[in-house]
Amino acid sequence: MSKHNRARSSGSDKQGSDGALRLDLSDLDIESIQKEATRRGCDVAAYLLSLRQEASGHHKVASRNPDFGDAPVATYKTRLGQIYRGDSRRLMLKTLKPESVDLIMTSPPYALVYKKDYGNEDADRYLDWFRTFVPGFNRVLKPEASLVVDIGGVWKKGRPTRSLYHYELLVMLCREYGYNLAQEFYWWNPAKLPTPAEWVNVRRIRVKDAVNCIWWLSKSEYPRASNRRVLQEYSQDMKRLLKCGYRHKQRPSGHNISAKFRRNNKGSIPPNLLALANNEANSAYRRYCQEHSLTEHPAQFPRGIPAFFIRMLTDEGDLVLDPFAGSCVTGEVADAMGRRWSCCEILPEYVEAGRARFMAQDAPPDPATSMRTEPYQVSAPCLGLVSEDKAPLAADGGRKPKKRGRKGKTGK
Ligand SMILES: C[S@@+](CC[C@H](N)C(=O)[O-])C[C@H]1O[C@@H](n2cnc3c(N)ncnc32)[C@H](O)[C@@H]1O
Repeated sequence: MSKHNRARSSGSDKQGSDGALRLDLSDLDIESIQKEATRRGCDVAAYLLSLRQEASGHHKVASRNPDFGDAPVATYKTRLGQIYRGDSRRLMLKTLKPESVDLIMTSPPYALVYKKDYGNEDADRYLDWFRTFVPGFNRVLKPEASLVVDIGGVWKKGRPTRSLYHYELLVMLCREYGYNLAQEFYWWNPAKLPTPAEWVNVRRIRVKDAVNCIWWLSKSEYPRASNRRVLQEYSQDMKRLLKCGYRHKQRPSGHNISAKFRRNNKGSIPPNLLALANNEANSAYRRYCQEHSLTEHPAQFPRGIPAFFIRMLTDEGDLVLDPFAGSCVTGEVADAMGRRWSCCEILPEYVEAGRARFMAQDAPPDPATSMRTEPYQVSAPCLGLVSEDKAPLAADGGRKPKKRGRKGKTGK
């Protein structure tokens, strides 16, 4: 019997007089544990803890328990891709080829307090739930591929404070699974409504939450990418500068503004803030759903989001996967941009409606050329509109609910 097996069968782990647990492991075991921890980008203790969580039954370890229902069925196909109905964990672990995907572009259900019809995990269970997808991501992604996750922040139930779940997700993916944060992006939705009304409109103690996080992750530190593909229209100031010139000078920050700044590169390098209104109120998808009594998805992202990352991170013919497909925006955009694609959605009604993206009369325009190029306006912070004495601070931090009542009765 090898030392390895002996240690296991004799149950020889011991508690020392100092209370510390000593594990009787072979050098080989120790080496492989250390290697796996390093591969996941964490230390041995964090790795062992993650194994315990996996084994606790809180969730199933996908690679050992591929119990995610029947194999997803391709229900709609184009020349370049297909919409699968079923559980994407099963799709990624069994159906798709290993290391076949160039980009996972997705938006999982957020940990919403007020759940959508498709169901949302609670923030405190979110990481355990999300872990069940990661073995699938690891299996299908090519080594130089990217994983782009659009994820919104949420408020804690009944409180004017925010959950940390989406940051914890990011830390988990990097620390436990060894993903690299290639860059964090923020999606500013200028059309976002001021919610939750209680904190923003009624007690006036928070501001409008109008930004989503988008984590661009990768297995490698050097995923395939080019920012030349996503240049944006020059600002009016930059256009003037290109036309009229600029005197070389050094900024107070030490940056040297050289003649290179006068080179016309056809557009400027975008920041990691994507300004895109989510108000495709009259989209062909919506009209088709209404006309055919199909269930429109309640949480679509605008086409500009997948279009940006598909263009920056993939070539024509590459494979794009959306494992939380919803209404299949990613598929529509990938198809229009000549990428192969697979979208997987678990709820049949959304799969059914997803076809609308391809059946609608006015076929999907090419998002790379048809997207809005005029800038959205964002006002600079303005402090002088209301005098401070007309807007006193809520002394109790807004703890007490405002009395509601008809104007003139309780209010002054
Ligand atoms: C936030 S929505 C995605 C919306 C999508 N980005 C769009 O623009 O339409 C998340 C979707 O993931 C689906 N989903 C949740 N778990 C899934 C699973 N295991 N496999 C496939 N889809 C899943 C939900 O039903 C929901 O429609």
